[in-house]
Amino acid sequence: MPPGGNPSRTQQISLLSGLIHQERTSRTFKKWLTKLISFSTERIKVKGLSRGEKINVREWCHDFLRQDKLPNPFVKQFSQVTAEAAQIWSLAKKQNSFKLFAPFLEKIVSLCRQKAEFFGFSDHPYDALLSYFEPCMTTKKMTAIFEGLQKEIKPLLKKIKAEHPVSASFLHRNVPEAKQMELAHLLLSYLPMEKAYSRLDLSSHPFSIAMHPHDSRITTRIVPKDFLGNLFSVLHEAGHSLYEMGLPIESWGTPLAESISLSVHESQSRWWETRIGRSYGFWKFFYPKLQKELPGLLKGVSLKKFYAAAHKVKPSFIRVDADEVTYNLHVLVRFELEKDLIGGALAVHDLPEAWNAKMKEVLGIVPPTDREGCLQDIHWSLGDFGYFPTYTLGNLLAAQFFLRFAKDHPDWEERVCKGDFDFIRIWLRDKVHRAGRTYNLDEIVKKVTGKPLSEAPFCAYLKKKYSALYL
Ligand code: CO
Repeated sequence: MPPGGNPSRTQQISLLSGLIHQERTSRTFKKWLTKLISFSTERIKVKGLSRGEKINVREWCHDFLRQDKLPNPFVKQFSQVTAEAAQIWSLAKKQNSFKLFAPFLEKIVSLCRQKAEFFGFSDHPYDALLSYFEPCMTTKKMTAIFEGLQKEIKPLLKKIKAEHPVSASFLHRNVPEAKQMELAHLLLSYLPMEKAYSRLDLSSHPFSIAMHPHDSRITTRIVPKDFLGNLFSVLHEAGHSLYEMGLPIESWGTPLAESISLSVHESQSRWWETRIGRSYGFWKFFYPKLQKELPGLLKGVSLKKFYAAAHKVKPSFIRVDADEVTYNLHVLVRFELEKDLIGGALAVHDLPEAWNAKMKEVLGIVPPTDREGCLQDIHWSLGDFGYFPTYTLGNLLAAQFFLRFAKDHPDWEERVCKGDFDFIRIWLRDKVHRAGRTYNLDEIVKKVTGKPLSEAPFCAYLKKKYSALYL
């Protein structure tokens, strides 16, 4: 779309959001739904429904009650303001001008507070926004998770900083776009993705979108001096895509063939990006192929040296470029700031200063510009307050699921070394994908791992892996 198309696009989005909301909350729909289920007790009122049909009715009821809390004009206004704000944000980021974005952010924060009021909450207004993206999560639980993470990560980071810096300059030489796309396709060709049902393209920010389990599309981003970033993006987005492809196609169009939540979705992308894509076994398989493709760059660089460079840990300003150890600290910064913005403890015009202070406190560095600070992410301009914590939850879940996977497949790394990935896809499909929305986050974790969600497996993974690499 040319930039001049923005205003009319904004109107289209607002109109469509309003129409979709109208259908989802229509009186006719409500009438039929109340014949099937009691809204207050979730008791199914009709006899003879299958287990799957009962689950669908329950989930339709959840969706209806949530959507019905928002008045239709509010939904239209929200999408109008955020569609406009996203355009302004992009300009403000380019010009490094927080002033330009601030009035829009003021409006969005105020709309998000209203949204929280509509949804209702008992403890903190942020609870209402957080549970929109992850129904099983509360501000209190999330705060405890971040405390647990900080307790483990901060000392680990301190130890790593005291070590000799890893040399990684060979990872930051120029690889042209066409070559990088070739590498992306090569990598994808080894992953267990059905070619007929998926495709890869280029975009300025990587994403994954599925129209159907048989129509899954992913994109990657090319930075000439960061070919590895491109490969990890492909692994990440392929993970999202494999989740959508693993949903039970026979139930398509119902909650039984929908993903559980954003956190569980992110657990699948982080799984392929970090649990598999950052394993030594994976690089034992893929590095020789990469070396052959980039002889000028990687000739004479041993697998061990490459692997260490790919795991360089250093606090940085940009979340999407952060290493595994510091990544969740970036999320923590956003979690605390958005909690304060929504709760009223922080005013929008004080955000840049508060951002820098939080970065200093949590990561020990201060970004030189707002472009590398509070203007870096698109999320707030889209009104997605409460979204960021799902990134961290995805990391924790991936680590917790993986413990169980490694028990079921103790030889997983030997198989990965040989380029065998399909057994991983099958395990994930059986344990997570095929259930659709049968279980919520808390239930699926319990079902797969036998334990409640915890940050401990993730912390144990970081400690073990990075102690071996660094300490
Ligand atoms: Co993702």
